[in-house]
Amino acid sequence: MLVLLVASAAVATAARRDFVGSTTCATCHPAIAASWRATPHARSTASLGPRPAARCLACHGTGDAPAGRAYFAEVGCEACHGAGAHYAADDLMRDRPLALALGLVDLTVPATRAAVCARCHNPAATTRLRPLDLSRPVHPSSAPAPGS
Ligand code: HEC
Ligand code: HEC
Ligand code: HEC
Ligand code: HEC
Repeated sequence: MLVLLVASAAVATAARRDFVGSTTCATCHPAIAASWRATPHARSTASLGPRPAARCLACHGTGDAPAGRAYFAEVGCEACHGAGAHYAADDLMRDRPLALALGLVDLTVPATRAAVCARCHNPAATTRLRPLDLSRPVHPSSAPAPGS
């Protein structure tokens, strides 16, 4: 629990320069990017009108959810995987422990993954009639990453 709190604090201090944007991730992960584009996360401001309020973009965008600034008007790769400016290079990404040390969030750990979703999703107060199953894949295509 302490570890999660520290991780959240690190995310809360992220600045615009810490993010590369989903378009950059997509250059090396094209199949996953295509899969993500078909999800509501890629269209998360479509229902907010032409000038979304900052307090809405905190969760409907990528940045310091749930209360900080948003730098991208979509729930992009870095909203879940962590701000990528320090890890999103080919040689770093091939060295998993190093990428994790440089800010890649380890979403294979169930508690970490649950905490990331919970920054924006309150499973007990969903806006939908059906509760969301937050353990399901969020970008269903699991094509192998480049180099694997
Ligand atoms: C320059 C190319 C490149 C860019 C840009 C890039 N990646 Fe990667 N990524 C890779 C490579 C190569 C691997 C490792 C594949 C392997 O070892 O099988 C990888 C692995 C990963 C993994 C799997 C790590 C694991 O083993 O759990 C994730 C998640 C990931 N990248 C997310 C991202 C995100 C998010 C971004 C944008 C912030 C991004 N990548 C940008 C090349 C890139
Ligand atoms: C704490 C995070 C958070 C904040 C802040 C937030 N939202 Fe959301 N919103 C969500 C999540 C998560 C969903 C998807 C929930 C679901 O489907 O169960 C959602 C869904 C929606 C939907 C339904 C989208 C659709 O296509 O069905 C609308 C509309 C919406 N939000 C509007 C707003 C507006 C307007 C604001 C600002 C006043 C706002 N939200 C602020 C997290 C948030
Ligand atoms: C809503 C959160 C979320 C978003 C947005 C998201 N991912 Fe993921 N991603 C996950 C989760 C959860 C996993 C599964 C981790 C596990 O259990 O292995 C994952 C797995 C991955 C993996 C490794 C496993 C695989 O399928 O190859 C890569 C690479 C990856 N994501 C890249 C991306 C890229 C690139 C984007 C943006 C185009 C993106 N993700 C957007 C949550 C997200
Ligand atoms: C930065 C905030 C944020 C994060 C982090 C986030 N989401 Fe979302 N998610 C949203 C918003 C906002 C929507 C609603 C988008 C819309 O329709 O306008 C949404 C929509 C969804 C939907 C589609 C709901 C529907 O009924 O169509 C699923 C499924 C989902 N999220 C799962 C996840 C999972 C699983 C995670 C964690 C791995 C996660 N999300 C992380 C903000 C977030």
